[in-house]
Amino acid sequence: MKLEGTEILKCNYAARNIPRGVVLLPFTLVVILLLFPLLRTLNLSASKIFATSFESKEETRRSSCNVFSGNWTPYLKGPYYSNETCPFIFDKQNCLLHGRPDREFLQWRWKPNECQLPLFDAAQFLKMVKGKSMAFVGDSIGRNQMESLLCLLSSVARPEDITGKHASDSTYFKWWFYPDHNFTLALLWSPFLVKSSKSYLNDSSNFYLAEKLYLDEPDEAWASQIEDFDVVIFSGGQWFFRPLTFMEHGHVVGCQKCQNNTELNFYGYRIAFRTAFKTILNLKGFKGLTFVVTHSPNHFENGLWNTGGGCNRTKLVTTVEEKVAVHPYGIEELHQIQIEEFREAENEAKKKGLQLGLIDITEAMLVRPDGHPNSYGHAIDKNITVNDCVHWCLPGPVDTWNEILLYHMKTRM
Ligand SMILES: *[C@@H]1O[C@H](CO)[C@@H](O)[C@H](O)[C@H]1NC(C)=O
Ligand SMILES: *[C@@H]1O[C@H](CO)[C@@H](O)[C@H](O)[C@H]1NC(C)=O
Ligand SMILES: *[C@@H]1O[C@H](CO)[C@@H](O)[C@H](O)[C@H]1NC(C)=O
Ligand SMILES: *[C@@H]1O[C@H](CO)[C@@H](O)[C@H](O)[C@H]1NC(C)=O
Ligand SMILES: *[C@@H]1O[C@H](CO)[C@@H](O)[C@H](O)[C@H]1NC(C)=O
Ligand SMILES: *[C@@H]1O[C@H](CO)[C@@H](O)[C@H](O)[C@H]1NC(C)=O
Repeated sequence: MKLEGTEILKCNYAARNIPRGVVLLPFTLVVILLLFPLLRTLNLSASKIFATSFESKEETRRSSCNVFSGNWTPYLKGPYYSNETCPFIFDKQNCLLHGRPDREFLQWRWKPNECQLPLFDAAQFLKMVKGKSMAFVGDSIGRNQMESLLCLLSSVARPEDITGKHASDSTYFKWWFYPDHNFTLALLWSPFLVKSSKSYLNDSSNFYLAEKLYLDEPDEAWASQIEDFDVVIFSGGQWFFRPLTFMEHGHVVGCQKCQNNTELNFYGYRIAFRTAFKTILNLKGFKGLTFVVTHSPNHFENGLWNTGGGCNRTKLVTTVEEKVAVHPYGIEELHQIQIEEFREAENEAKKKGLQLGLIDITEAMLVRPDGHPNSYGHAIDKNITVNDCVHWCLPGPVDTWNEILLYHMKTRM
């Protein structure tokens, strides 16, 4: 898949390039409709909303602790790194560099109900991946997590940028090599995981023509590269809110936010993950360990990215009212879909003797509206145009994802 830089930049934010009128009216209606049942649901505890976020029997047998349900607890020692010590932070997530004044968002650690999540141990991580390779497959949230990992490792080792040897597009694809550990780390850009065609604006109708997703065909951007990787981490979500046309077996089967076809909301998300799992589990030479990171919630308030919305909270949400105020659209559905598809794939993996693991960050991140760049993230040479309530500041709560990654790698490698 080849996408233009400007297009991708625009789409770093959820549904960023969709003209207001097209999305906002239906969106607002949906939000209003959703809020009523939601108000009831939110009286339940977070773990009840995410009834599906338990780990499978297999997980339990391995590690005996469900690290996905828990609370953030104060941790005054602060983050592992800063903009001074880590050179790998992307400008747009470099909140300290952009002068974010508050620091409380850095003073929390995730505490699972059933156990302690160990601190990230860079030396231990590097020892485990010696002579191995790891790929993040996904969108800019996957890149966000990969850059967190680069920073977490930077106290012990720094990689060489070897992107040029592997990819022609060095803006969205990244390859790093840690020579002392013979460890290769890659970001394979694939926001839909499946094959897609480019969308474009129809000026006369001011409507973005739906991007076609070929749901039964994996995106070659990763599928052609992945066979020899030892660890593969899939994620995705933000791009699935756009107008999309769904293709299967060469035919249109439905669409989303579209005019002329059967509206199949979130169908694309389900089948995209199904196809990704199926592809990797059936790759002939693939012997690696696969993880899926669940959907990362965004936290726009008082509007969306394109209507002056923002996320200026500096504290975690604790009350039901706050949870409603920051609740992202579609989060339960997306999470449910991912868990269901993961379970199916897990059974398939077992039959093939392959390992598939879950990194379920959704519950933990739902209460962290304080973790996004908001106005403290943008290209260094540009003025702020929109608030970013999608990505996560580095350092920030996204570092926890890699603590969980290491925790689960330890039981499997
Ligand atoms: C880190 O951010 C601070 C502002 O919080 C800035 O003064 C400093 O120059 C930055 N350091 C680097 C290396 O970018
Ligand atoms: C580095 O790791 C690769 C596998 O990723 C292996 O084929 C190669 O022999 C290793 N090189 C050294 C010098 O250990
Ligand atoms: C753009 O929209 C107009 C008006 O709806 C339509 O007549 C035209 O065919 C569209 N162009 C393309 C390339 O689809
Ligand atoms: C919708 O269908 C009508 C009738 O088939 C067609 O004229 C129109 O161009 C279609 N619009 C889009 C956006 O595909
Ligand atoms: C946060 O944003 C809201 C509007 O979105 C505004 O009313 C409030 O004053 C802001 N708070 C701070 C501390 O900037
Ligand atoms: C940013 O905005 C300020 C004030 O609006 C303006 O003076 C400055 O030239 C802008 N800088 C860039 C890089 O656009």
